[in-house]
Amino acid sequence: MKMKTVKDILKEGKENVGNSVDVKGWVRTRRGNKNVQFVALNDGSTINNLQIVFDLNKFSEDDLKPVTTGSSIHVTGKLVESQGAGQSVEVLAETLELYGTAAADYPLQKKGHSMEFLREKAHLRPRTNTFGAILRIRHALAFAVHKFFNDKGFFYFHTPLITASDCEGAGAQFQVTTLPLEDLPKNEDGSVDYSKDFFGKMASLTVSGQLEGELGATAIGRIYTFGPTFRAENSNTPRHLSEFWMIEPEMAFYEIEDNMDLAEEFIKYCVNYVLEHCYDDIKFLNDHFDKDLIDRLKFVVDNDFVRLSYSDGVKILEESGKKFEFPVYWGVDLASEHERYLVEEHFKKPVILTDYPKEIKAFYMKLNDDGKTVRAMDVLFPKIGEIIGGSQREENYDKLVSRIEELGLEGMDWYLDTRKYGTVPHSGFGLGFERLVQFVTGMQNIRDVIPFPRYPKACEY
Ligand code: 4AD
Ligand code: MG
Repeated sequence: MKMKTVKDILKEGKENVGNSVDVKGWVRTRRGNKNVQFVALNDGSTINNLQIVFDLNKFSEDDLKPVTTGSSIHVTGKLVESQGAGQSVEVLAETLELYGTAAADYPLQKKGHSMEFLREKAHLRPRTNTFGAILRIRHALAFAVHKFFNDKGFFYFHTPLITASDCEGAGAQFQVTTLPLEDLPKNEDGSVDYSKDFFGKMASLTVSGQLEGELGATAIGRIYTFGPTFRAENSNTPRHLSEFWMIEPEMAFYEIEDNMDLAEEFIKYCVNYVLEHCYDDIKFLNDHFDKDLIDRLKFVVDNDFVRLSYSDGVKILEESGKKFEFPVYWGVDLASEHERYLVEEHFKKPVILTDYPKEIKAFYMKLNDDGKTVRAMDVLFPKIGEIIGGSQREENYDKLVSRIEELGLEGMDWYLDTRKYGTVPHSGFGLGFERLVQFVTGMQNIRDVIPFPRYPKACEY
């Protein structure tokens, strides 16, 4: 017999009534009386449970005693139309095999544990309804990312996780070394002798695949990366992780407007994909956590994002009359409260902010004619703040060299070669995958949308 999941069985529903069923999973609940017992069985394939009916003329109370919340069982039986409300079919059990018991100390006994409690039990939380839903949505979003770019003719380009460069220049890199930390080899001037290190130079985990991505785009046209990135920022916020996944498309011949169009289309595609393919899971999260979730997702899909310059954005903030924790003025790196004011209170729509002061953005961004601002674009989202950061890249060799020298960056010859030989206008952006999952699931904390979150002082499993 083909191994069917609970999802398969529920989907086939009434058309299979009368047929025999073979199903395996974990017990969510068991209830009933002396004549009949009902088990809600879940195997992770769907948010929905399959109801198994045990007739106590056929099974003894002792048979069913170990069938407790969290235990794992194998049932064969017959699919019948359900007598009760809440499901259209159920299984009338004929055989029961117990794989594993779950004693009363199983931590996920009752429903409705707090997210904080579940974070402490992150090794078991995938078994809850909430995390099952999040993990299935996360998968669907990852699949949608690949589908979107593949359908558009982009190439999935693999950039290194261990790197010798610092893309964002924010000094937030985790160092990778095999040097003995208690007895470091030193140069004559007392500095560490990295020629003795594994790679013969200093190396780190990547904060972004962009620079290598540009090598791909200036050769095969349109690429995207999708992989883990690492940031050693000491940011204990509900929107930062030390290890997160990023999607970075990079396109030759794209100007900033093309880049914005792509970013908007991409996010809408992903949100729509999940509405179409994960509706049961989204509905569960909507009903249990966030009554506005579905409306918010539909709103994003159906409405144009506002496009606005940083300067105009700062003007709106200055004129808002609102007391912010951090002051606003032209030149300031906007804080989350500023971004969210623009999105949630002023426009009530996603906003793409462009043309930021060059001082607060990375070295590779294209300088505008005003000499003060760069062709940056940040996509700002309700509840999330910045979900995408991107820009048109400086393709002029001389301008890029002078910016690199201004900032004292070294070892960039390989990068500059893209501007030295056959340079082209090009653009790209980075979408923080967990921020997208957070938006789509409505979760308050980014630590709850990745199975094993890493953040300062937390590295379990
Ligand atoms: O704005 P960022 O730093 O941009 C870059 O890394 C560029 N190289 C991207 C590019 O143009 N190819 O990061 C991009 C996105 C942010 O908008 C945010 O969504 C996410 O990555 N992000 C984080 N997500 C979770 N935890 C963190 N610590 C994050 N830092 C950035
Ligand atoms: Mg950014």
